Amino acid sequence: MAGAIESLLVEDRIFPPPQDFARQAAVSGMDQYHALCAQAAEDHVGFWARHAREQLQWHKPFTRALDDSNAPFYKWFDDGELNASANCLDRHLGTPTENKTAIIFESDGGEVTSVTYRELHDRVCRFANGLKSLGYGKGDRAIIYLPMSIEGVVAMQACARLGIIHSVVFGGFSAKSLQERIHDVGASLVITADEQVRGGKSIPLKPAVDEAFAMGGCDTVRKVIVYQRTGAAVSMVEGREITWSQLVDGQSSECPPEYVSAEHPLFVLYTSGSTGKPKGVQHSTGGYLLHALLSMRWTFDLKPTDVFWCTADIGWVTGHSYVAYGPLAAGATQVVFEGVPSYPDSSRFWRMIARHKVSIFYTAPTAIRALIKACESDRATHPTQFDLSSLRLLGSVGEPINPEAWMWYHTNVGGGRCPIVDTFWQTETGAHVVTPLPGATPLVPGSCTLPFPGVDVAVVDETGGEMPNGQGGILVIRKPWPAMIRTIWNDPNRFKQSYFPPELHGFYLAGDGAVRNKQTGYFTITGRIDDVLNVSGHRMGTMEIESALVANKLVAEAAVVGRPDDVTGEAIVAFVVLKGVRPTDAAAAAKVAKELRDWVGKEIGPIAKPKEVRFGDNLPKTRSGKIMRRLLRVIARGEDITQDVSTLENPAILEQLKQVL
Ligand code: WTA
Repeated sequence: MAGAIESLLVEDRIFPPPQDFARQAAVSGMDQYHALCAQAAEDHVGFWARHAREQLQWHKPFTRALDDSNAPFYKWFDDGELNASANCLDRHLGTPTENKTAIIFESDGGEVTSVTYRELHDRVCRFANGLKSLGYGKGDRAIIYLPMSIEGVVAMQACARLGIIHSVVFGGFSAKSLQERIHDVGASLVITADEQVRGGKSIPLKPAVDEAFAMGGCDTVRKVIVYQRTGAAVSMVEGREITWSQLVDGQSSECPPEYVSAEHPLFVLYTSGSTGKPKGVQHSTGGYLLHALLSMRWTFDLKPTDVFWCTADIGWVTGHSYVAYGPLAAGATQVVFEGVPSYPDSSRFWRMIARHKVSIFYTAPTAIRALIKACESDRATHPTQFDLSSLRLLGSVGEPINPEAWMWYHTNVGGGRCPIVDTFWQTETGAHVVTPLPGATPLVPGSCTLPFPGVDVAVVDETGGEMPNGQGGILVIRKPWPAMIRTIWNDPNRFKQSYFPPELHGFYLAGDGAVRNKQTGYFTITGRIDDVLNVSGHRMGTMEIESALVANKLVAEAAVVGRPDDVTGEAIVAFVVLKGVRPTDAAAAAKVAKELRDWVGKEIGPIAKPKEVRFGDNLPKTRSGKIMRRLLRVIARGEDITQDVSTLENPAILEQLKQVL
């Protein structure tokens, strides 16, 4: 069946923008797209400066758009002053947007709460005033460990309002991961909830904060604020910990924004790299917000009447740019969803689109693939059973979308009439880098098409020479752009080494492979070129998982690789050498495997749990002791080894590792 569908998909199948869509689009037709690119090519800095002046509200205008005197530590608009929260909220007051719905929140259980821009502004101000009363202000760091909620957005916006640098930690990360982030960023404030509710289950959050503190290294934290999501009894340390409602009680709904330099860090967000511990990606205020907002206008073609829904959690960059900042700066009405797509059943997304008349829907391929699978076994959850006529644009993010999933999304969710924007970008890029503009770009399933105007993307070889179209290479960005990562928190050397290797002569190294189509020049992302996996759209470093495994008392050695997976994109496979004897029967192996999976869940978070654990007396190594991961990748896929294994010291080990117990 899959083969039959595949054969329908000729690679050059093209979906031009529907005429009525193109007619009213912000960027209409390829001529307009090329004109924007030409303007940027002619005067890169002037292009961005013009948009920065037009799109953002400046307290003090900038006089210098780009300072590249200390490359790659670029500064954009740095003598200009603004406030991100004022640009998301105050700018709408006194306009028709003031009384427009900003957020439609739907809880896991289905209750709906809405706030207007005026109400959101007031809530942000009250919370910010509360933080101020505790002595917090510009430059302090706050860890936000909250569920998807209006409160999550309020907390981020309130920090931005005061110049507090926030670092959101995804609620699915463990106490250990939380502790590492608190420590690395030197947080003086933690904002959390008693519990989060997902898929009908309550999952503790505050107890994880307590656990993180118990691990030590969190002495910088002065206060913990607890949003009572469920009202569950949680321990509160007197003097240090207060509830959200205690904090905002009696606070004024006016809080003047703290104007900061455009270069003031807006947030630090931790993401996985190929080596060592997660890196704290530091973003600026002005440049970041500019690109987040501009992509709302160009990529999402946002109109005042749209209802926008990005399903990403605020714990990821997508939830920063396309929940907490972009949509608000653009004055959109957006849906924020607490739960999961599979609860109470797999029609949840379709029901919510119909219920809230969502017109722009942005989600991850992994969710689409899971929902395709679900509706194959339960027809009642098929999207065509629901009224999705409000949709006019679909988006995809986080991982490559395979052409079959693209076609299914286009046909069954988009009714064949909605363009799909397959947006390629990264935590480090801040916003879209390669993406269709829906009123202009003819779409090809499986391709993220062409660069966002003003982002100089190219495919090059290892020394920075441009590859001809049709030949694969590595993806780079040749010129600085406003929303780019500024540095890695506390580790400027790692920033330089990771993203600006000397052999690329100042190009930004994205870490992905790519190829451009021979005729169209369209980009297709071919996957990471480093040891980073993409599991359900979540970035995971293989080294991180390996370090977690070897920290277990049973484990002598471990190697982690990815294997293609129909639903999650990639799945984690761990090869483990135990300190004791290797389990040889299925029951014993399953028992140890479960113990190790749970361990990884505790060390990092459930998303990092290996799908499969295999045991060997050793790992395949070269004579110099290097683990041959490429062989492990072949074994993990269940394929036969055809590569040369002559450099292998212990070839017999391969047979052992091939065994699935
Ligand atoms: C992958 C998520 C193909 C890529 C916004 C990138 C994609 C990593 C796409 C960044 C896409 C993201 N097509 N691959 N449309 N979007 N990726 O930092 O490997 O969580 O480097 O940012 O996801 O993941 P991150």
